[in-house]
Amino acid sequence: MKVFDSGMPDEAYWQSLFDIPAIVDWLNMDRVVPPVVEIGCGYGTFTLPVAGKTAGEFYAFDVEASMVERTRQSAGRAGLRKVHVDLRDVIDHGTGLEPESAGLVLLFNILHSPERRILLAEASRILRDDGVIAIIHWRKDIPTPRGPGIESRPDKQTILDSAAGLDLRMEGGESALEPYHWGMRLVKGRRP
Ligand SMILES: C[S@@+](CC[C@H](N)C(=O)[O-])C[C@H]1O[C@@H](n2cnc3c(N)ncnc32)[C@H](O)[C@@H]1O
Repeated sequence: MKVFDSGMPDEAYWQSLFDIPAIVDWLNMDRVVPPVVEIGCGYGTFTLPVAGKTAGEFYAFDVEASMVERTRQSAGRAGLRKVHVDLRDVIDHGTGLEPESAGLVLLFNILHSPERRILLAEASRILRDDGVIAIIHWRKDIPTPRGPGIESRPDKQTILDSAAGLDLRMEGGESALEPYHWGMRLVKGRRP
């Protein structure tokens, strides 16, 4: 089942809506144990810069063939041979990855779906102990040039409620990811 969206604008415009280097910095890639997984990679806006910061494998998934093809081609052109992009409906079929294998899962601009718990549960399943789910989404407190309707955008509490019982804990606070986004991190395992 595809997460509803308002249609992706063209790639250059989509990229202009993020401070991509600041978001990559926020991920603290120096601390990440590969592999990295991205659910709903879209144009590969984050796939490429994040994959460039890890020496390990990067598994990206999208339900749209055109997005998969675009990300594959961009990764190929960039010489990122450890980026594997698969056409897959992760809500209906999961990622197919081994349990407790990943160090970082990216859920970027995808958790406005009522099915967000399915995505969080799959991310938790594949995360190793102390692995991280990084979430970004559109801010609710200001008008933004794109993004789903304000009422469907999740906030921190919505995500924590959806993650209840999934062996995840929040690390740090919410981060402002200017101009239009915010982010939070969930860590696998119960240790403080
Ligand atoms: C709003 S875009 C965000 C793309 C990217 N994460 C970013 O922030 O630039 C959401 C992406 O998730 C993909 N998607 C939606 N439902 C999905 C599903 N069930 N399984 C995998 N990908 C999905 C869409 O095709 C789309 O490319």
